[in-house]
Amino acid sequence: MDNRAIGVFDSGLGGLTAVRRLHEIMPRENIIYFGDTGRVPYGTRGRDTIIKYTRQDIRFLLQFDPKAIVVACNTASAAALETVQGEFGLPVFGTVAPSCEKARQVTRSGRIGVIGTAATVRSGVFERLLHRADPSLDVRAAACPLFVSLVENGRVHRGDIVIETVVREYLQPLRDAGVDTLILGCTHYPLLQDVISDFMGGGVTLVDSGAEAADAVRRAVDPAADGTGGTRYFVSDDPRSFDALASLFLSHEPAGPAELVEITDY
Ligand code: DGL
Repeated sequence: MDNRAIGVFDSGLGGLTAVRRLHEIMPRENIIYFGDTGRVPYGTRGRDTIIKYTRQDIRFLLQFDPKAIVVACNTASAAALETVQGEFGLPVFGTVAPSCEKARQVTRSGRIGVIGTAATVRSGVFERLLHRADPSLDVRAAACPLFVSLVENGRVHRGDIVIETVVREYLQPLRDAGVDTLILGCTHYPLLQDVISDFMGGGVTLVDSGAEAADAVRRAVDPAADGTGGTRYFVSDDPRSFDALASLFLSHEPAGPAELVEITDY
């Protein structure tokens, strides 16, 4: 049993989808969450910048002596995880490998769609991992660069003409290709689950990458015996905007307000 906290980070609010799942499946774990809201989005940036930000985010979390880190951001997982994984002397979990694993389990036709930020799709990492496991899979990836800003602005609901139009624009090729499984390869996207599912149709299984990362953590880490299950939230920009939207991503209200961090100090 290990009562140390689990450190989780994302460029913004999206990683809270992993926190939500961790709370559900490991209710005793203490969690330290960092959302790099001052520098979101990561998905429009180059690889070297994403690696630099990822190292800073992990160094910030390390001061809490976590037992594991969750890179609850597909962009950072795709661009930086392989590079930084061995640098810190503790397990670092990403979103990509567990999501690929899940997609392979649930697809019936072998036609899998992947959506993510521009940086994630450019990395080609989902196709690589899926094809390494099964070269016969037909994998189609599509970048959805506007989704993160729309989600961070709360434009996630059915009937919102803006999000419904953008969803149609980005996902039409994947629907036409007949994918039966769609990896939500960005931890912000589960907030769009209803709108995406309405458009793709009920026969398409959505894979939630934040939840898959959380499940991978549960399979691998020594659980807490008597942790309080509390979460502390840190952000790199005005905490009030984070506090206002955080409950959209969580199944409950955050216990306390987020605290401000000068992330460039790390
Ligand atoms: N949640 C991040 C991801 O999973 C958002 C990326 C961004 O900041 O652009 O990719």
